[in-house]
Amino acid sequence: MFSLSYPKKRAQRLRSCKWSRDLFAETCISPKNLIQPFFITEGNNIKNAIDTMPSIYRYSVDNLIREVEKAIESGIKAILLFPQIISDKKSSNASEACNINNLICRAIREIKKHNFDIGIMADVALDPYTLDGHDGITDSNGKILNDATLDILCKQSISLAESGCDVIAPSEMMDGRVGRIRDSLEQGGFYNTKIISYSAKYASNFYGPFRDAVGSKNFLKNSSKDTYQMDFRNAREAIYEVGLDISEGADAIIIKPAMLYLDVISLVKKEFNIPIIAYQVSGEYSMLKIAGEKGIFDTDSAFIESLISFKRAGACSIITYAAIEMAKKLAFYR
Ligand code: PBG
Repeated sequence: MFSLSYPKKRAQRLRSCKWSRDLFAETCISPKNLIQPFFITEGNNIKNAIDTMPSIYRYSVDNLIREVEKAIESGIKAILLFPQIISDKKSSNASEACNINNLICRAIREIKKHNFDIGIMADVALDPYTLDGHDGITDSNGKILNDATLDILCKQSISLAESGCDVIAPSEMMDGRVGRIRDSLEQGGFYNTKIISYSAKYASNFYGPFRDAVGSKNFLKNSSKDTYQMDFRNAREAIYEVGLDISEGADAIIIKPAMLYLDVISLVKKEFNIPIIAYQVSGEYSMLKIAGEKGIFDTDSAFIESLISFKRAGACSIITYAAIEMAKKLAFYR
């Protein structure tokens, strides 16, 4: 194949001017590929800084609307909402998760009133609602109760769908959840509610700032999620997890974290014909932001390089806390 050798072939020829680098670029990215997560909190006119996530805030529902408008103006097609639940409403059976008047359901209904052209996604997991910060309910020894959790996840999904949520994103890694949630949605008449499952979600160190943001960190203490989230030594196991979720009714899947898991994205892409979303998680975001603030590199260029790497590996879209900021800076990469 490579019969041409130097100097007949010079790899630098096509790189030598900007127009030819652009003409032959294999990967492009547009604001349409980005999903912006938002943290929401109770109250009015609130915009709370999150210590471990520079430039990211928790918004009260009234202030969130303006931020959603900014996302739309920048060409973003979907948002992902996470509630910070006050301690009084947390419980061992996470009942607040199913309350149709809980914070996230109210936020969804409020956004929907505006008839915006943007998809609303919400996590299905119990960690904002449980007393121990776990994604499912636990027994007295702290062991996850998979099957009992499924019933709650189905109710949580129906409350979200009833409030107008477009995409249910199961993120708690319980076995059998996608199938059960799909059945519940069908029974409830929510035929077009999409399930985008976090199929390959690793027990990662990089969720730290997120747990700060939603306030589950102090509840979780030093307990790990190793018994239900994936072991980061495994890549091929992701194929199995994704296969299960597809067969249970997932419309697209999420791989998370993203930067350290490009091999997983590429492996899944080779195996399945289903849209893949890469989730650049809170720890990845803060690492890039804080390193940029220290002058270690140019923050924007480093973010763009990371986003391109997800697409290069095979992701079609990316969840990133820098979505709105980066959407404005992608002109050269569309
Ligand atoms: C909850 C959930 C987590 C994240 C998204 N949904 C944290 C966790 O599993 O502990 C992490 C997102 C991020 O770090 O940005 N199940």
